[in-house]
Amino acid sequence: MADKIAVIGRIPDAGLTLLNNHGDVHVWDGEPPVDAGVRDLLLRDADAAITQLTQPVDAAFLDAAPMLRVVANVAVGYDNIDLEACRARNIRVTNTPGVLTDATADIAMSLILMSTRRLGEGERLVRSGAAWRWGMFLLLGTSLQNKTLGIVGMGEIGRAVATRARAFGMRVVYHNRRQVAPEVEASLDARFVPLDELLATADVVSLNCPYTTDTHHLLDADARGSMKPSAFVVNTARGAVIDEAALVDALAAGRLAGAGLDVYEHEPEVHPGLVDRDDVVLLPHLGSATVETRSAMSVMAASDVLAVLAGHEPDHPVV
Ligand code: GLV
Repeated sequence: MADKIAVIGRIPDAGLTLLNNHGDVHVWDGEPPVDAGVRDLLLRDADAAITQLTQPVDAAFLDAAPMLRVVANVAVGYDNIDLEACRARNIRVTNTPGVLTDATADIAMSLILMSTRRLGEGERLVRSGAAWRWGMFLLLGTSLQNKTLGIVGMGEIGRAVATRARAFGMRVVYHNRRQVAPEVEASLDARFVPLDELLATADVVSLNCPYTTDTHHLLDADARGSMKPSAFVVNTARGAVIDEAALVDALAAGRLAGAGLDVYEHEPEVHPGLVDRDDVVLLPHLGSATVETRSAMSVMAASDVLAVLAGHEPDHPVV
């Protein structure tokens, strides 16, 4: 009998085609999370599940899936998955690194430009219908050239942000769990510094680290207190790396110049204190949102599922 593959939330056709050629594919094409009743029906005899970052894969999910051998998350982050629970049940977990690096770094760079050059404000002004004309002092922003970008998390995405920032004339410092190899530092022209030095010296801080218990509220009130009042924060990682309430307080008190956010602590809710602020750019989690990238992510997840079902090692194992 063909293996049953539960696809929780529609994915691009490229991935589905691959799956359809090999298994008995059941697609639930709503927006995850799926409600418990449908989840239990879908999973009760599923050998594999393809999930998205909005789908918690917790004990309840796994209990509903006694035959499950693999969970392929169509995302690079996997903080929606209880890895210990998967390990305990011998279920493999995979993710989609690499293919979304450039797309996500593009969004980080866009947020850096949007917040420092006040592009959201400018767009809102033109669309508002209010009278405007070129003005010597209209919406003056902050130049990036010779400013310091502090990258927190120097994985693939952090490196791709560094490359972009260097092309815009920024100096790059970074903090990471481990210092990266000297040749990588040299190629990026990036210098490793302790986190407190990064926060104290950066003109723009870009968060590019995974969300873990170690990075929960990494930017809290204390951390933000050590930043320059002229600095900007950009987050394309996970919302809860920032203590959002403390961010709102810092912006309101003028202890920070602005923020560019693609992710939120209680996503999809956005802290009401952010919504009305002109010094904040808000995007709806678009990091990997290009046709090409999402298609490549779907193929990667499908290939990993098929590898595990065929008894092979997946190419992108997390567990
Ligand atoms: C997006 O946020 C991802 O983790 O892929």
